[in-house]
Amino acid sequence: MGKRWVKEKKKEYYYRKAKELGYRSRAYFKLLQINNRYRVIRRGMRVLDLGAAPGGWSQAALKLVGEEGTVVGVDLKRIEPLEGAVFIKGDVRDERTIKRVKEVCEEFDVIISDMSPNISGIYIMDQARSAELAETALQVARDLLRRGGSMVVKIFEGMDTKEVLKKYREEFRSVRLTSPKASRTSSSEIYIVARGFHQSRYPHSEQT
Ligand SMILES: C[S@@+](CC[C@H](N)C(=O)[O-])C[C@H]1O[C@@H](n2cnc3c(N)ncnc32)[C@H](O)[C@@H]1O
Repeated sequence: MGKRWVKEKKKEYYYRKAKELGYRSRAYFKLLQINNRYRVIRRGMRVLDLGAAPGGWSQAALKLVGEEGTVVGVDLKRIEPLEGAVFIKGDVRDERTIKRVKEVCEEFDVIISDMSPNISGIYIMDQARSAELAETALQVARDLLRRGGSMVVKIFEGMDTKEVLKKYREEFRSVRLTSPKASRTSSSEIYIVARGFHQSRYPHSEQT
């Protein structure tokens, strides 16, 4: 029984489980597994989901925040409506998209990003683009994450990972890397869990 065979079986297992239970992607389980360990998303919180299509993470986030919480999802692609969530079609690198997010909610407790580039198959290129997206997510956080807030961000492991982590470490109290069970199928994918965002967007008001 080769490693690859085991990986494929696992992938198939979560894929089928998601289908059976009506979840939009097997990524649903990844977010729940990460959250079981780190408890970043809790009831009543406001969650921004970057790269949300087809909506598996948003489904998981909705379950975790409950009725009193808020879930806003953004993606380049259109997302089928989901009761309780607000979806915005747009590029997260575009200021107009951020403006539209702010119209729904000014500030978030948690920002999650499962954004992936279009896979070219040339690993070094895909990894570099994934690192760029992880940096974009951090840029969005500077604009929309509350002080003390948390992030969960996907990155393809590679030579840029260290540099990206360094940037996260400058802005968060604690930064960890994790690989949830449901994700171990594609070996390159890992998740940054960053907690305790330092930056205050209102430094002047805090000085009084
Ligand atoms: C792996 S999928 C996300 C799966 C999702 N978390 C789920 O559970 O269903 C990655 C998504 O990132 C989106 N994406 C990539 N770059 C983006 C960008 N610049 N702005 C918005 N979405 C982006 C892609 O369109 C794609 O739908």
